[in-house]
Amino acid sequence: MTATQSEQATQVDLAVDVVIMAAGKGTRMKSRLPKVLHRIAGRPLLDHVLDTARALQARKAVVVTGHGAPEVEASCMRYAQPGVPLVLDFVRQEPQLGTGHAVQQAVPALADDGMVLVLSGDVPLTQAATLFHLMTVCGGHSLALLTLEMADPAGYGRIVRSDDSPGGMVQAIVEHKDATPEQRQISEIYSGIMAVPAVHLKRWLAQLDNNNAQAEYYLTDVVKFAVADGVPVLAHKIDDAVQVAGVNSPVQLAELERAYQLRQAHRLMEEGVRLADPARLDVRGDLLCAYDVSIDVNCVFSGKVNLGEGVSIGANCVIANAVIEAGAVVHPFTHIDGENIGVTVGKGALVGPFARLRPGAVLGEGVHIGNFVEVKNSTLAAGAKANHLAYLGDATVGERVNYGAGSITANYDGANKHRTVIGADVHVGSNCVLVAPLALGAGGTIGGGSTITKDTPEGALSVARGKQVSIANWTRPKKMAKV
Ligand code: UD1
Ligand code: CA
Repeated sequence: MTATQSEQATQVDLAVDVVIMAAGKGTRMKSRLPKVLHRIAGRPLLDHVLDTARALQARKAVVVTGHGAPEVEASCMRYAQPGVPLVLDFVRQEPQLGTGHAVQQAVPALADDGMVLVLSGDVPLTQAATLFHLMTVCGGHSLALLTLEMADPAGYGRIVRSDDSPGGMVQAIVEHKDATPEQRQISEIYSGIMAVPAVHLKRWLAQLDNNNAQAEYYLTDVVKFAVADGVPVLAHKIDDAVQVAGVNSPVQLAELERAYQLRQAHRLMEEGVRLADPARLDVRGDLLCAYDVSIDVNCVFSGKVNLGEGVSIGANCVIANAVIEAGAVVHPFTHIDGENIGVTVGKGALVGPFARLRPGAVLGEGVHIGNFVEVKNSTLAAGAKANHLAYLGDATVGERVNYGAGSITANYDGANKHRTVIGADVHVGSNCVLVAPLALGAGGTIGGGSTITKDTPEGALSVARGKQVSIANWTRPKKMAKV
């Protein structure tokens, strides 16, 4: 398709109301969690469908809940945060008597003047562009079905046409269990997705019965009512099975996760990102990259992550809610999680391997954070370095500070957190304990092994440890004879 989504939207004159069927049990998941709350890319399946409804600028989305209804509804409410422009409505379907029965429950929530798009909460990867196309096919007067050719169509509803040609008029959808052996030969299947004018849909839903192999109210029976009413039934056939694939088992969930991740990887590469292996990347949120970013294997990004120009991410890094500025290098096995506060890694900074940056870590330009160094709620000014085995918590670190191996800020007194302020050009030796609240004057030196409890003056050497003594000719204790 060449038109942009908003241009496509104007081709459909009717307001769009989305019905999302999400009442089913999902027995094969063998899980206490309702099926639609299982996750792809860290988010419930249903959120992906709601995202699509939002991308379509739907007037509202009506979610049909049943199994685990309170949990599913609560999850949707979390989705519908202020600022998310999607009106949500819920209807309950109890008991679950089939897809037609599910959509019947939504009828009171559907205005007559709209076009209804029927989706499933367990089909997460349908693209908005595909649905725009389907809605254009419906055009406000036809029944439009999204269909697909399948090598193994067993289990699916078959598209029965007036003659065998692919251009033949659609006469019916026949469910697998109701199909004759001849109909089971048909390889064109119904995806479970349709677009239909609300007035027609409501009239047809009122005529459904459950006289079929499964004693269910089939939504797919609306096709024969459309044919009887002389309303055109049009199929929009696609060839991308992933877009209509549902999740019924952990295996299918994992397959769609990989499909989703491969899609992210290709999008990133099209934006210029160099991925060592597109099959070994996981993006569970929004990853934004400038030019010349490279990402080695097995990295996981979640929340909002921004990588500046030329940033290099080593293998096996886990990075969430962080801004990494131009030219910074994150070495392998680094864990960065800004949670809801964020982490900033400044221009040209070097982090890791095996570093841990926690919420509120703000590293200035050219800062070095080495192996087994943990930084939390601390600002490090340009050129500061903590290269080995250290902890900086609730600290403000001046420019060019050198923070020795094994040194820590003792920022917690058991009840409250306190700050440590380290002036510019301070040199903290190895294995120091800086007991906060504390201020180290600029240019000072802290002798290795010191436990510093009082502020130190600028430019001074401060040492706080037992004086070294040597006792000459020391005789070591000997083992006593057994009695
Ligand atoms: C349905 C279609 C079939 C199509 C297939 C595509 C019908 C009768 N058949 O099959 O033609 O090929 O989808 O996957 O529609 N649900 C409810 N309430 C119910 C029953 C189902 O909310 O009472 C929900 C399920 O949770 C699921 C969706 O509707 O999200 C589809 O149900 P499912 O049982 O998977 O569809 P099938 O009947 O197998
Ligand atoms: Ca199904």
